[in-house]
Amino acid sequence: MQVNGNHFRSIWLADDEPRVLVIDQTLLPFAFEIQPLSTVSEAALAIRNMVVRGAPLIGATAACGLYLAAETDALEANLRKACQELLSSRPTAVNLRWALDRMLPLLLAEPEAARSSLARKLAQRICDEDVATNSAIGDHGLELISKAAKSSPGRAVNVLTHCNAGWLATVDWGTALAPIFKAHDAGIPVHVWVDETRPRNQGASLTAWELGAHGVAHTVIADNAGGHLMQQGEVDLCIVGSDRTTRTGDVCNKIGTYLKALAAHDNGIPFYAALPSSTIDWTIRDGIRDIPIEERPAEEVSHINGRDNAAGTLVRVRVIPDGSSAANPAFDVTPRRFVDGIITERGVAKASEEHLTTLFPQEAAGQPL
Ligand code: MRU
Repeated sequence: MQVNGNHFRSIWLADDEPRVLVIDQTLLPFAFEIQPLSTVSEAALAIRNMVVRGAPLIGATAACGLYLAAETDALEANLRKACQELLSSRPTAVNLRWALDRMLPLLLAEPEAARSSLARKLAQRICDEDVATNSAIGDHGLELISKAAKSSPGRAVNVLTHCNAGWLATVDWGTALAPIFKAHDAGIPVHVWVDETRPRNQGASLTAWELGAHGVAHTVIADNAGGHLMQQGEVDLCIVGSDRTTRTGDVCNKIGTYLKALAAHDNGIPFYAALPSSTIDWTIRDGIRDIPIEERPAEEVSHINGRDNAAGTLVRVRVIPDGSSAANPAFDVTPRRFVDGIITERGVAKASEEHLTTLFPQEAAGQPL
C-alpha cells in the first residue's frame, strides 16, 4: 500500500544483511517509524508488544523470526527453542503456529549449512503468498460489495468493520479491508463505519489511518454505536477479519466482534469474516471451547493513549478510578450460526465444515483431529 506516495509492505527482509524491517504500529497514526529486528527474541518481542499485530502479519513475523534464528545458529535444538519462543509470544492467532509448522520440518530436512538460506527463502515465500492470498480475498469480497451497490443505486455502500484487518494486519492488502480497497479502486462508492475497538483502538488508530491514506470515505464510531446504526438502516454489510476460525466456521476475532454479529443477525444484515486459509485451525471444531483467548494487561483498559494536540506529544492517561480493577480478554468467538459467509482466497464459503473442507480439501486433511 502507499504511504506518502511510497509503496510499503508491513514487513520486509533487508537486502544485504540478516535483518527484518517492520512498521512500528504502536506509534500510528501519529508517527510512521520503521523498526529493525535482528534476532528471534526481537521478533518475538515485537509480536508480544504489538509493534506488529494482526493474525497474518504475526504469522509472517514468526517466519522471519525463525529465519533470524537460523542465521545465528541453525542447529535443530536452537531452531526448536526459537519456535517455542515465538509460539509463546501471543496465543490466539493460529497463523503463528501455521507458519512455524510449515517451515520447521523443511529446515530440519536439510543439512545445517543449508538451513539459513532456505529459511530466508521460505520466510520470503510466506510473505509473498500472503500478499497474493489477500488480493484474492479482496477480489471475492469485491463481488459482495458490488452486489450490494447494485441493490442500492445512487448511494454509497455502508460497510461496518471491527478492529484492523487491513494491510497493516497482513503483509499487504489486508483481509476485511481488501474488498473495500478494491471496491473503491473500481469506482464503487463505499463508506466504512470504523469501530474504534477499545481497548487498544486499532480501528480508530490503524483502520481509519489506512482508509484515509487510500481516500476511502469512513467514519470512526464508538464500539457501542454499531447496533443503533444497523437499526437505522445505516449499515449494508459487516466485514471483519479473524485470528482463528475452526474447521466448522466458528470465527474468533477481536473482542466485540460477537456483539456486532448478534446485532447484524437481529437486523438481517449480512455478516462476513474475511480470512486466509492459514487462519483456519483444522484441528478444532468448537471455537468457544477450544480457542485460547489471550488475556492482555489490565492497563490497556485502565489507560488510553493519544496525542496532546497543544503540546504535540503522545500521552497516556488513566480513565478509571484509582483502585478499580480491570479485565482485558482480547478476543471473542462468533458462533458459525451468526456468520453469513467466510471470504477466503478460494471464494466465499458458508460457515460450515462441509463447505470449508470442500474448498480446502488438502489443508483439511493435513492435520489429525
Ligand atoms: O490484537 P490484534 O490487533 O492483533 O487483533 C487483530 C484482529 O483481531 C484482526 O481482526 C485479525 O487479526 C484479522 S487481521 C487480518
